[in-house]
Amino acid sequence: MQIHIEPISKSRIDQVDFDQLAFGRSFADHMLVAEYANGAWQSVKIQPYGPLEYQPAMMSLHYGQSIFEGMKGYRGKDGSIQVFRPEENWKRFNKSAYRMCMPEVPEEIFLGGLRELLKLDQAWVPAKEGCSLYIRPFMFATDEYVGVTPSTTYKFIIFNCPVGSYYSKPLRVRVETEYIRAAKGGVGFAKNAGNYGGSLFATQNANKDGYDQIIWTDAATHQYVEEAGTMNLMFVINGALVTAATGDTILDGVTRKSVMQIAQDWGMEVQERQLAVKELIEGIQNGSVTEAFGAGTAAVIAPIATIGFEGKDYDLPERKDSDFSVRVYNEINQIRLGEISDTRNWVW
Ligand code: COI
Repeated sequence: MQIHIEPISKSRIDQVDFDQLAFGRSFADHMLVAEYANGAWQSVKIQPYGPLEYQPAMMSLHYGQSIFEGMKGYRGKDGSIQVFRPEENWKRFNKSAYRMCMPEVPEEIFLGGLRELLKLDQAWVPAKEGCSLYIRPFMFATDEYVGVTPSTTYKFIIFNCPVGSYYSKPLRVRVETEYIRAAKGGVGFAKNAGNYGGSLFATQNANKDGYDQIIWTDAATHQYVEEAGTMNLMFVINGALVTAATGDTILDGVTRKSVMQIAQDWGMEVQERQLAVKELIEGIQNGSVTEAFGAGTAAVIAPIATIGFEGKDYDLPERKDSDFSVRVYNEINQIRLGEISDTRNWVW
């Protein structure tokens, strides 16, 4: 499909301080916009990043037919731009689309369009340690209609943000036993906007009590841990990597599956299983739980320092360079920067 390119007349890049990058506050010069109507993708355009005009009755604003992905691009040590496993995000995007009654986005638009966009915005990929280009593809319903039914028109957009780290320090997280993120049969595995909107209230309550994030528990019993805020949740217990199995309520995280693969390649036991809050708390107390961390594209590996449960805080051991979460972070980082060979073919 032909991509029509309308380049910016003057870059905004000199307005951004690349030494002080926050997460998600600066936006690169261009965006890709594709339009879906009459049962097919009609046009793909790269144009200056900027406002779009919509009707107040645009369906996605009312009924939440809106999905997204997050990927990261890095500047390799040879100056080249490397994107981490974007094919995985493309496949997951289309699974989210299917669940939300939205059209699939073909590879040539998602990945082919991204390649063209990155050619234009390549100067925006930071070179500084710990920084990257966060790539945000998303799709939303654009019919002007107030009935509840799948839209017939959609927009697929990709924009890019040069970013620093998502979290600046190890996290204090609280086990949530009142509100839920996802339930069996629901949309927890999909990356649809409503999952994130629905998480805000419980997270805000935890923030008020001095926690950075929450640990979601299962909707039926609140006895088993699921995800941490917007990340998959992982533990090292008696030397094994433990994480919830994917399913209706767990996002099939790209960082999650990369961490699991590396653990396996290093000969570590990997257990995808239910973990009871009781086992977790007792394990922290008796020393069998040695590490807890979140894994996600934005945060990469987010170490957890403290877990709050029923009014009490439980501290994880101090982080050491020999910890699995430190070593696996370094491994992923070195692969992405091209510092060690990409034997698993993860870099694009
Ligand atoms: C990601 O890691 O890309 C996420 O989904 C988190 C995002 C909502 C900031």
